[in-house]
Amino acid sequence: MAETAWNHRHVLSLSQFTPQDYETVISTAVSFRDVLSRRNKKVPTLQGKVVTNLFFEPSTRTRSSFELAAKRLSADVLNFAPGSSSLTKGETILDTAKTYLAMGADIMIIRHAATGVPHAIAAELDRLKTGVGVLNAGDGQHEHPSQALLDLLTLCTVLNPENPNIQSLKGKKIAIVGDIVHSRVARSNLWSLTACGAEVHLAGPPTLLPARFVDSFQRSPIEPPDISRQLQQHTSLEAALKGADFVMTLRLQRERMAQYLLPSVREYHHQFGITHERLKSCSPAVKVLHPAPVNRGVEISSELMDDPERSLIGQQVTSGVATRMALLYLIGTRGRNAEVLDGN
Ligand code: CP
Repeated sequence: MAETAWNHRHVLSLSQFTPQDYETVISTAVSFRDVLSRRNKKVPTLQGKVVTNLFFEPSTRTRSSFELAAKRLSADVLNFAPGSSSLTKGETILDTAKTYLAMGADIMIIRHAATGVPHAIAAELDRLKTGVGVLNAGDGQHEHPSQALLDLLTLCTVLNPENPNIQSLKGKKIAIVGDIVHSRVARSNLWSLTACGAEVHLAGPPTLLPARFVDSFQRSPIEPPDISRQLQQHTSLEAALKGADFVMTLRLQRERMAQYLLPSVREYHHQFGITHERLKSCSPAVKVLHPAPVNRGVEISSELMDDPERSLIGQQVTSGVATRMALLYLIGTRGRNAEVLDGN
């Protein structure tokens, strides 16, 4: 694998990513996808390294695909389940992280229902000068960087299967629909898709897409002046869907709804559920994404979810392993010469 420019010890928020960072992740993930198509799917890249999966909130896809990605890179993987851990005896989250640090963790992958927990752990690990990298696997309603990066790989692959790259996203219209206010997936995707030149259109009921929601995503803290982000929000679904190349629908996150934000689930599906009928105003080749888990028949119809011509949901999960291998590789070998993938 060619040497890559990579400056991140942690991956906490895509607001810190440049277009070059996205290109690096995509090209690295494509190399690992080739590895995953071989008979021997394992490379020795992270041999001797310890990767810790600290999931304080439930997960199927993210936890399992980070675990598989780490194992494919030959790392030793420690999985943590809060219900059977010493958290139940009053141990703090920071002390839990320090316990894994004392066992030799090199990379910590952290999911928590509260915004900022991965950042707090990363700050403490930096203060202690440990060199340990932290990957945010979803923090509250804030961000889910690896999900947006696997979405990016999925989109780039559809647009240019032979040579997936972020240039192919320029000018593509992507509608993100549904429960946007509670969605860390939407927030990470807003940063990545707009930085790569896509035109992003949001739609959802006003209780789930507050007025001026997009304002804080127009400029990132590290923005070079030449990035101009194409981002709009709509109250009507029709405006967002018209001519869209891709539609990303989001799970209605009832567990995060402190109050009654919708008249009914049936009414929500009637107004914002994505169906074959609704896709008629999109581009003829439109494809549909969903980060999953899915509420079938709520944010997307069951028929559309299972339609292999339209639905990319399975491909998103598949992209997740190569994308997470890329992230673990980039963080785990940061500062070292690039590893040779053919060393097995
Ligand atoms: N998309 C996603 O984060 O799924 P899990 O909650 O199953 O990890």
